[in-house]
Amino acid sequence: MLRRTLLASALAIPALSACVSAGGAADPMAPLPLDTSSHARPDEARVRHVSLDLTADFDRKVFHGKATLDISARPDAREIVLDSDGLVIRAVRAGGREAQYELGSRDEKLGSALVIQLNGARQIEIEYESAPNASALQWLEPAQTASNKRFLFSQGQAIHNRTWIPTQDSPGIRQTYDARIVVPADLKAVMSAEMLTRDGEPAGEGQRAFRFRMPQPIPPYLIAIGIGDLVHRDVGPRTGVYAEPSVVERGAYECADMERMMDVAEALYGPYRWGRYDVLILPPSFPYGGMENPRLTFLTPTFLAGDRSLVSLVAHELAHSWSGNLVTNAVWADGWLNEGFTSYIEGRIGEALFGAEHARMAEALSWSDIQTALGSVPADGQRLHWVGEVDANENSSAITYDKGALFLRTVEGIVSRQRLDTYLRSYFDRYAFQPMTTQGFLVDFRAHVVLGDAALEARLMLDQWAYEPGIPSNAVQPQASGFVAVEQAVAAFNAGGAPTEAWANWNTMQRQRFLQTLPRQLPAARLEALERAYGLNAIGNMEVRFDWFALAIPNGYEPAGSAVQRFLSEQGRGKFVRPIYRALMDQGAWGQALARRTHEATRGAYHPIVQTAVDRIVTG
Ligand code: BES
Ligand code: ZN
Repeated sequence: MLRRTLLASALAIPALSACVSAGGAADPMAPLPLDTSSHARPDEARVRHVSLDLTADFDRKVFHGKATLDISARPDAREIVLDSDGLVIRAVRAGGREAQYELGSRDEKLGSALVIQLNGARQIEIEYESAPNASALQWLEPAQTASNKRFLFSQGQAIHNRTWIPTQDSPGIRQTYDARIVVPADLKAVMSAEMLTRDGEPAGEGQRAFRFRMPQPIPPYLIAIGIGDLVHRDVGPRTGVYAEPSVVERGAYECADMERMMDVAEALYGPYRWGRYDVLILPPSFPYGGMENPRLTFLTPTFLAGDRSLVSLVAHELAHSWSGNLVTNAVWADGWLNEGFTSYIEGRIGEALFGAEHARMAEALSWSDIQTALGSVPADGQRLHWVGEVDANENSSAITYDKGALFLRTVEGIVSRQRLDTYLRSYFDRYAFQPMTTQGFLVDFRAHVVLGDAALEARLMLDQWAYEPGIPSNAVQPQASGFVAVEQAVAAFNAGGAPTEAWANWNTMQRQRFLQTLPRQLPAARLEALERAYGLNAIGNMEVRFDWFALAIPNGYEPAGSAVQRFLSEQGRGKFVRPIYRALMDQGAWGQALARRTHEATRGAYHPIVQTAVDRIVTG
């Protein structure tokens, strides 16, 4: 789909050619719940502002330079504990004087604690560089980009930013930031911040410097950077698209509804507090669909379907401007406060733009995803608020996202849409720029909506939703009339009929529903009939193509093999790549051979996060 594939070089290989508030903004030392994903001890000393002065060295694949941190600390605090992972520390100063520091041993998940003696200082400077294999960063070769120029992007969530920024990497510890970034003169830097220098400033031979400022305190996972051959197109008064030149027109077309989405979200949940809203379309190895970096959502190019059929992704990331970026999960165990709320709001934006029937179809697909998860995720993993050992990088999206959204839709059905809207708007105002816990949310909701009404409390089943596995009995299964025809078409196909011609008029969700509800076991002749009728091996919509492969691979349908290889080579989105490799490895000899061959040629092009996951799947 992109002029340059993720793996232009790999494809040349013959084998592949077939192929209650937890902490207040007002009180800088307000207590925070324990974050087991960070070394920080925020009750003693915490970072308030990060100032970065870094140079991007594409030859060595490192950032080097200086981070200056402003901190708040208890009067008796002797040291501050930062997170770091793989950073090479060159020098540390506290209050302008050389400071003693210690870099702790590396924990596999958390990285190393960087403990710095304060000597009464409230500003520290760290000279350092990142490691070439920093998990937050992907340094792309020219062949991996549309422009055939080098590219770098970062991905902070959940706990990766410690691999390029020495700070307290915990979502409850909000920090403002500014940055000066020096890059090769033919490239442009963009960040999740106000851009102070659109075209950069001269900065030594062959280099340009870009400056940025984020005046609102944000959780540190939202500090993000992209460097590449980037241009910008406005799509509305406050909205626009950054992308490589050959992608930007398609991007602007796909994102045409962005300004309207903002208007809808603001009408529901209050003013957008971040100034501009732009999106950055990344090269195809971007490991996620989207990432809600403030002022600058990062997007996969796989959402460019050409017909705006996948823009719910943009609605989702925009919605995070309230749920997640404004009111933030205090710890990753409360991730549903970010993602579940956001999925609910994504649905509301979609409903306002595309109508109720569109929304019901999205809800019905989401309901099915929950049912599938309940059948495969162990009970412990079915709670909205995670308990026990929590890996910040592992989460079942059907629980965090879909069960979370279903919870809010259930509440909406019980208390009325108007009451929930009023409440949510007040919630975002009350806790703006603050962390939130599940318990804090429930206390607040009870204080503002339940108001001691015992009958209402009983109908809501709040604690069951938040803390128990499964789906409480008050959930209502969504009914989508647009899926009735799809179910009939599935039945007709199962009875031996030809693939339905209605497909041509179906939207993406109906096509997905069709492929997802066909029997999981189909003979090659029936799969071939589908492929012939709809051109599934090469269908432009990546979500639909993915659903097709999820059906074809377990059936050992070999004529899909080269299309699967291409799919795994031309993009590196974890949501697509991981399940496809898993399906191949589970299939048998054909799938495993295909997986191994493809993996060998493609793994180097994937983002480190996806690479590690795929390595585990393929080599065990
Ligand atoms: N914040 C997430 C991406 C994320 C989640 C990064 C967990 C790291 C750890 C983002 O908002 C998101 O949910 N993206 C989804 C798209 C969405 C439409 C469900 C994705 O990437 O698929
Ligand atoms: Zn999200």
